[in-house]
Amino acid sequence: MEPIPVFAPHIGVDTLKHVTDALDVGWLGMGALTKEFEERIASVLNLRDRYVVVTNTGTSALHIALLAAGVGPGDEVITTSFNYVADHQAVIATGASVVMCDIRDDNLGIDCDKAGELIGPRTKAIIPLHFAGIACDVEGVYRLAKRHHLRVVEDGCHAFGTSVDGRPIGGFGDIACFSFDPVKIITSIDGGAVVTPNRAELERLRHLRLLGVDKDTLLRYQNSRAWDYDVVSQGFRYHLTNVMASVGLSQIKRLSEFIESRREVCRRYNAAFADIDGLTPPRTDFADVSPFIYSLRVPGNRRDSLIQHLDKRGVGVGVHFIPVHKHTYFREARRGDMAVTERICQEVLTLPLHSNMKPAWVERVIEGVTSFFA
Ligand SMILES: Cc1ncc(COP(=O)(O)O)c(C=O)c1O
Repeated sequence: MEPIPVFAPHIGVDTLKHVTDALDVGWLGMGALTKEFEERIASVLNLRDRYVVVTNTGTSALHIALLAAGVGPGDEVITTSFNYVADHQAVIATGASVVMCDIRDDNLGIDCDKAGELIGPRTKAIIPLHFAGIACDVEGVYRLAKRHHLRVVEDGCHAFGTSVDGRPIGGFGDIACFSFDPVKIITSIDGGAVVTPNRAELERLRHLRLLGVDKDTLLRYQNSRAWDYDVVSQGFRYHLTNVMASVGLSQIKRLSEFIESRREVCRRYNAAFADIDGLTPPRTDFADVSPFIYSLRVPGNRRDSLIQHLDKRGVGVGVHFIPVHKHTYFREARRGDMAVTERICQEVLTLPLHSNMKPAWVERVIEGVTSFFA
């Protein structure tokens, strides 16, 4: 029996062709394809007066986004504990401290009432995560940010292509970050992006991405480089190469197809699990969602035996996430009440979801779950 992985990238001959063409150009580093990838992202997200900077990972995107937003030593940044540790590490890398907040039961995104209670004189920014591709309470987040003059850095790493009231994440609000790592909806093998509404921040992000060097970006966008340059700020080697951008370009051209095929699987799962006692499928019809993972909630005391049951049927699963406040390095971080997080983290189970997933695999996953609860 062929094992079904929980994640599987969709790599077609189109991707191979893009890569060999990029290799043929002979300019492997950051270059014209990096720029083209940024332009494609801007076009897919329908951006007006907003700017895209691609990076080598989603984590580096978050790091420079926070720096560009003015986060630094002495500041606090609020994010959820029910999140990937990339966000928390990005905050620490700026010299700021992370403050962890609880989530809501309905969308597993930040609980804005509880976030409000955590705001203090040192709070500089909020990082709300759109978990699994499902938008968090963006209205609540921006209301809170406005009231307390906070920056918002949206973690859209799971949600490239998700919309809220017809507007894609990244297409409104403050800064948004995305990830194109190997398992995301589209991949550039590894990669990320920052979208900012601020022209001055675009320049700052470009400097932060490339060792603080001033004129390199525009020349590199023409597959060339400057030999007389100045270094104008702190900076990192966080740029995305032409070859990685070529993978991203091949993938972004198929984004709608990938999203649609994932939505179909999610809807099939939702329908199959809707009437099973004790199961909580995601509360969405996926119409505005670009689904990254399918996160099913199961009774906490039965999760381990379900995992074993699925394993016997060759169905791989994941657990997203172990809350970050449980990890050794973050145990002492300031946090609020975590009642929902503590419960949810016992219940979540990520089922296989791929772009263009084989129908027989979808049925095997469903049979695995339903037979366990029969
Ligand atoms: C919620 C979240 N934020 C940030 C990241 C970091 O992205 P990357 O792996 O591209 O660094 C991830 C990666 O899985 C993630 O799941």
